[in-house]
Amino acid sequence: MERAILEYKGARYELPVIDGTEQERAIDISNLRKDSGLITLDVGYQNTGSCTSAITFIDGDRGILRYRGIPIEVLAERSTFTETAFLLIYGHLPVEAERRAFSERLTENSMIHEDMLRFFDGFPPTAHPMAILSTMVNALSVYYPGYFTEDFESGTFDLMAVRLISKIRTIAAYSFKHSIGEPFVYPRHDLRYCANFLSMMFHSPVKPYEIDPDIEKALNALLILHADHEQNCSTSTVRLVGSSMVNLYASICAGICALWGPLHGGANQHVIEMLEGIQQQGLSVRDCVARAKDKDNRFRLFGFGHRIYKNYDPRAIILKGMCDTLLKKFNISEPLIDIAMELESAALADDFFIERKLYPNVDFYSGILYRMIGIPTNMFTVMFAIGRLPGWIAQWKEMHDSVPLKIGRPRQLYTGPPLSDYVPMDQR
Ligand code: CMC
Repeated sequence: MERAILEYKGARYELPVIDGTEQERAIDISNLRKDSGLITLDVGYQNTGSCTSAITFIDGDRGILRYRGIPIEVLAERSTFTETAFLLIYGHLPVEAERRAFSERLTENSMIHEDMLRFFDGFPPTAHPMAILSTMVNALSVYYPGYFTEDFESGTFDLMAVRLISKIRTIAAYSFKHSIGEPFVYPRHDLRYCANFLSMMFHSPVKPYEIDPDIEKALNALLILHADHEQNCSTSTVRLVGSSMVNLYASICAGICALWGPLHGGANQHVIEMLEGIQQQGLSVRDCVARAKDKDNRFRLFGFGHRIYKNYDPRAIILKGMCDTLLKKFNISEPLIDIAMELESAALADDFFIERKLYPNVDFYSGILYRMIGIPTNMFTVMFAIGRLPGWIAQWKEMHDSVPLKIGRPRQLYTGPPLSDYVPMDQR
């Protein structure tokens, strides 16, 4: 094994270098503190690996993304979301019997307990769907208990996984129906995953919804593109929370909350609001780029930049192509896509963005597609969560499969006051 040498105060420390399967290397510092008294400091984990993982590979410089070795472009074109979910969680593409069994279990578990419907009455119609989703997913642990410590060996994990994947779309669709004051539409056993979701979202007793195969296909690809992205903020959250051995539902609930933020999955909602701002408030693309560059302004170009990609996000390339296809098929004009493309060209030609290697990310074009499908803007991040769920589950499982399971617990460099006296109130 190769070793890296650290010299500090005349002492030499040998640190093992670990190889990944794609020529990536990591210095293992887990014994560094014990040997030298030093910890490493890396605010925001910009260069810190928290685990080894065999699920997703990203090469951010070359714009590569693969799930279990299979390029994202191939999966988006040829797979289904449920097959991709199986691939992520179980590590291989399902054979026909596995696919059928997985699919049947998803179908069987698509309803939520009738008592849970009462929860929706307690939420105001203005409630953000991400708040509802996280609450309801955590509430699944009340109605469908199953805890890692007792049940991991007995197949309960598999059941919890399909329950989550199936019920999340029911919860999402019900939160939409609740917000517009329409009756819930129950899941149907004769529909596939994405078609079922579209039916629950858009069917109404007075206006039947016809499922367009191209819309279904687009939704399928959208979910696949979001299905995993290695150790991002929400996935790391799922792992960290899950490392305390709390149940899967609670871990996923934490992941949903982490995803909600505008720097992460919440960016898709902000992209559309930004584009609408340009359209409606007469803001020019140039002003928008200038604001994003202004250090005194907290505004950012949402849908641009990525911690890992220093090249075009491969998911954004696929999504942009899908926007074109749907626009042509339905022969509709979507002014926001013109604004998005103008914004993209302006940013990509600007030195600030060039120097920092800021390119469109997955959230830049996904919102436009969701709009074409009919998804309301405040549900965009919910769509991201539905897509990301299999990845969270796969990462949670991988962590629990690894022996020994280590609770996540980073260190810190304390910079507060030294030992201080307690001063009684009358002497302060
Ligand atoms: N607009 C303007 N400036 C930006 C942007 C942006 N979208 N992104 C990064 N920068 C600048 C940033 O100000 C910094 O400049 P300087 O070096 O002068 O201080 C430099 O680029 C590096 O940025 P950073 O914030 O240090 O990079 P990071 O890796 O910590 O953050 C990011 C990554 C995604 C949070 C960030 O690029 C961002 O805020 N983007 C906008 C929000 C967004 O689209 N998020 C969705 C990400 S993709 C979905 C997902 O996986 O979460």
